[in-house]
Amino acid sequence: MTTAGILKEPSHDRRISIIPESVAALIKMNISVVVEQTAGAGAFFSDEDYTKNGAQIVSRTDALKADIIFSINPPEIDDLSKMKAGTLLVSVINPLVNTSYVEELLSRKINCMSLESVPRTTRAQSMDILSSMATVTGYKAVLLAASKLPKFFPLLMTAAGSIPPAKVLILGAGVAGLQAIATCRKLGGVVEVFDVRSAVKEEVKSLGGTFIEVEGAAEDKAAGGYAIQQSEEFLRKQKQLIHDHAIKADVVICTAQIPGRKAPVLLTKETVAAMKKGSVIIDLAASSGGNCEVTQNNESLDMNGVLVIGNSNLASEMPGDASRMFSKNIMNLMKITFTKEGAIHLTKEDDILAETVITKDGEIWNSRVKSLLQPATVA
Ligand code: NAI
Repeated sequence: MTTAGILKEPSHDRRISIIPESVAALIKMNISVVVEQTAGAGAFFSDEDYTKNGAQIVSRTDALKADIIFSINPPEIDDLSKMKAGTLLVSVINPLVNTSYVEELLSRKINCMSLESVPRTTRAQSMDILSSMATVTGYKAVLLAASKLPKFFPLLMTAAGSIPPAKVLILGAGVAGLQAIATCRKLGGVVEVFDVRSAVKEEVKSLGGTFIEVEGAAEDKAAGGYAIQQSEEFLRKQKQLIHDHAIKADVVICTAQIPGRKAPVLLTKETVAAMKKGSVIIDLAASSGGNCEVTQNNESLDMNGVLVIGNSNLASEMPGDASRMFSKNIMNLMKITFTKEGAIHLTKEDDILAETVITKDGEIWNSRVKSLLQPATVA
């Protein structure tokens, strides 16, 4: 029988990859489940919640002996050394950046599915952890900004006078940005949005935001809906226009990313210096360098009265639903990973598996990782 092991995440992350409800579903799929002790505590799932659903609580060392291992953050190299060859690791390893980790997996013959490599296609939508986590972070970013802002979000007409609504500028209208627009609008803020993909203009408008267009953005249909690197000339024009809007804003939420690259710098230190005192910048792109020039990842800075919060891990601050969504995404992926008898069956014939599997028996499957690490072998 295949055994699944669920790991406890590092202390900075309160989420868990598989919630107790999904343990019961795995067992129905003929898979036995072991869970590292107290793994669910940060997300308010006790060891007893797991045992009641049929799991066994074990030490980390024992959980690492399972045939398939689930985690959100990639296990340490020391953990990899405790796994047997042929183990299937299901995690978020960021293979386009952590290439040395991929090399480790190859040399140890550990098979790996990396969840951020699930293709952004209609069929794979229910397995897309990037969208789920971006939904959480976009929402949480607005609530964080609202709690730090020295003013109301909505327009208020009170006996003590009328209060204008908060002005919010959102950089990047992907999943997180769109969720941030919706949340701002529910709180009554006025929203302006920048993105380089014109396709998103209608969505921004339908959520009640104003889309600010910068002429001349480069787009590439082959990029699978993602943004691509822009020219110096475009970025200069864009920074100027962003400056003009940011100095009138109370809140700026930064979400702009380019997969596998450093995040574009859209908010310069001169712009931050010119912003209103008391305004708040939440930079969700902090872990890939940030959209704001002064952002420090995992730090809150007071820049002469402007609060700059660099946090790409806000999903961890809503660990209950973030874990629930993450776990549901994994379970949908597992439906195409296991046979009816509960055996692992990875095939390149399935387009989702072909891209999600990074390493299998010492070979690279994902096409982008392969062209990065083994360019000569890619036709
Ligand atoms: P992301 O996290 O990679 O980037 C966030 C946003 O930043 C994007 O909208 C991007 O265009 C924007 N951006 C990048 N550089 C910028 C710049 N210099 N200035 C302003 N904005 C900039 O995006 P996310 O949320 O991962 O979505 C990427 C794409 O995937 C979108 O087209 C989205 O519609 C698509 N998608 C498709 C799904 C599906 O079909 N299953 C599910 C989710 C997303």
